[in-house]
Amino acid sequence: MSAKVQVPRGTYDVLAEAADARATLESTARRVLEGSGYRRIETPTFEHTELFARGVGESTDIVQKEMYTFDDGGGRSVTLRPEGTAPVCRAYAEHGMHKLPQPVKLWYLSSFYRKEKPQAGRYRQFWQVGAEALGSDDPAVDAEIILLLATLLAELAVGGLRLRIGSLGTLAARTAYREELQGYLRAHAGELSDDVRARIDLNPLRAFDSDHPGTRAVMAGAPLLLHRLDADDAEHFATVRELLDRAGVDHEVDPTLVRGLDYYTRTVFEFTSDKLGAQSAIGGGGRYDGLVEMLGGPATPGCGFAAGIERMMLASPGLPAAAPPVDLYVAFEGDGQRAMAFAIAAEARDARLNAQMELAGRSRKGQLKQADRLGARYVAIVNDTGTVLKDMQSGDQIDVEPGGLVARILRNRGMR
Ligand code: HAM
Repeated sequence: MSAKVQVPRGTYDVLAEAADARATLESTARRVLEGSGYRRIETPTFEHTELFARGVGESTDIVQKEMYTFDDGGGRSVTLRPEGTAPVCRAYAEHGMHKLPQPVKLWYLSSFYRKEKPQAGRYRQFWQVGAEALGSDDPAVDAEIILLLATLLAELAVGGLRLRIGSLGTLAARTAYREELQGYLRAHAGELSDDVRARIDLNPLRAFDSDHPGTRAVMAGAPLLLHRLDADDAEHFATVRELLDRAGVDHEVDPTLVRGLDYYTRTVFEFTSDKLGAQSAIGGGGRYDGLVEMLGGPATPGCGFAAGIERMMLASPGLPAAAPPVDLYVAFEGDGQRAMAFAIAAEARDARLNAQMELAGRSRKGQLKQADRLGARYVAIVNDTGTVLKDMQSGDQIDVEPGGLVARILRNRGMR
């Protein structure tokens, strides 16, 4: 026998039962987001590599080591999308959406790709539900985005949640702060981990993420960006918090909240769940006021979130998985009755009934057992003298003309 071919590392098959739970998650997301005016968008699975290099940022782990990048065969470098915000901003600029009434509110449920080390809750192909609001810097947009994710997680009964929020200020405040932090880190270089020391120039903020004891001790005394915000940004942040309080969204301010993407300005936030292991981040996002312009579009503020489908499902094991009900199962007695059974099932489907017919040559007893397993409401048994309609709820059986069977079920259904 040949060796079995298996799925690539970090990927998985969605089997029927999980597909039902995912459908529930998707319909919940649609209801929550479209109820607030967000419209669905789908962008391509791959984009020009430059979109992410510029948008997500050269210094990030994503761009440095996690992208699936390849030549498209024509000498152009393309990349499987590692995230959805840069593609949505590209689409906004490309389709002139700044001419529409602002903000333009979009949502997506799509697959994303990152070459990370797989572990529980971390995959190389994973799915996110996300929302982006472009064209307004009103703090109510930030609060709405956070509230929508809080609502979605609550509706999915995701447990053990914690929401942390912070503000990174404008690009100018961040640049000045970055220099201040670099000075501070250089002054304490001897106490830092090799890794953090090597990244002082490229990404000093990552020092806040370190587990290294010496680095942690240094970072406890480090200057905080939240204390360096200008008056406008501080007021913007205070308003976002006030709106969240008014809506009853519990949150903690975390001045060291660092997100793994470079495009953020002002508000950043992250939900974690203690139902997850090491990969406890279930969803996050923030404001990215410079991103559309960075991609060649008009200066446009924006704010959004994305949450991982796999992690939401892990933290919400009770997600109801409803397979569609079966209205009619068509059984038959011998090969001579197959064509009649097929015609009845086809007629039932035309009448929008969920119908299935026997396809595996079972005995009469086996066919009834199969109908029962499927939870069929009615079974039609076609034999050489006529057709019997069995009501699986009451157990009643009646003889019916094959031509009148579907009408009969529809009539009975109407009476229920
Ligand atoms: P992110 O924090 O990189 O943000 O990803 C959002 C969520 O996607 C994470 O909280 C996590 O649940 C899930 N996720 C990320 N990587 C993986 C993985 N390898 N396996 C499974 N799940 C994963 C973004 O992607 C931003 N685009 C969010 C955003 C939208 N910011 C503004 N708008």
